[in-house]
Amino acid sequence: MAIREIRTVPDPILKEVSQPVEKVDDDLRALMDDMLDTMYAADGIGLAAIQIGVPKRVIVMDLAKPDEEPAPKFFVNPVLSDPSDTLQPYEEGCLSVPTVFDEVERPDRIRVQSMDYDGNQVDEIAEGMYAVCIQHEMDHLEGVLFIDYLSRLKRNRAVQKVKKVEKAKDKDAA
Ligand code: NI
Repeated sequence: MAIREIRTVPDPILKEVSQPVEKVDDDLRALMDDMLDTMYAADGIGLAAIQIGVPKRVIVMDLAKPDEEPAPKFFVNPVLSDPSDTLQPYEEGCLSVPTVFDEVERPDRIRVQSMDYDGNQVDEIAEGMYAVCIQHEMDHLEGVLFIDYLSRLKRNRAVQKVKKVEKAKDKDAA
């Protein structure tokens, strides 16, 4: 298990469409373990493989509250369907767009079909935070970021802010 570098905007890899996984094997589980470690280390609740530079259709997530036991979830080749007509606004953030938060509206209920950590089929209805998070992470697999839903002005401002934050971090590390 290892903590990997999280790619941030405007890294062009974040615009790539991720490719389906052929089978869930130990190599893929090692990737999922690294993704989970990386996500926990960054205090995130969801992470797509492309965010650590791997263009595979894999997502990890943990929606447990800080005082609850960890509850990691793994999604391999996830497919979403049957979105609700009701939209819910939620203030989103993203480990690839650090320090930026803004409101995005998404269906508040959606069906999730996927493979899990062991390659078993999962078929669930996601609601609330789970619905928000899985839709946000699915977008990553298509090369879409939450800031793509904002106005061009807000999006450009977000990218500039992240560039500044990352530059300051590099300076601190040097
Ligand atoms: Ni994200």
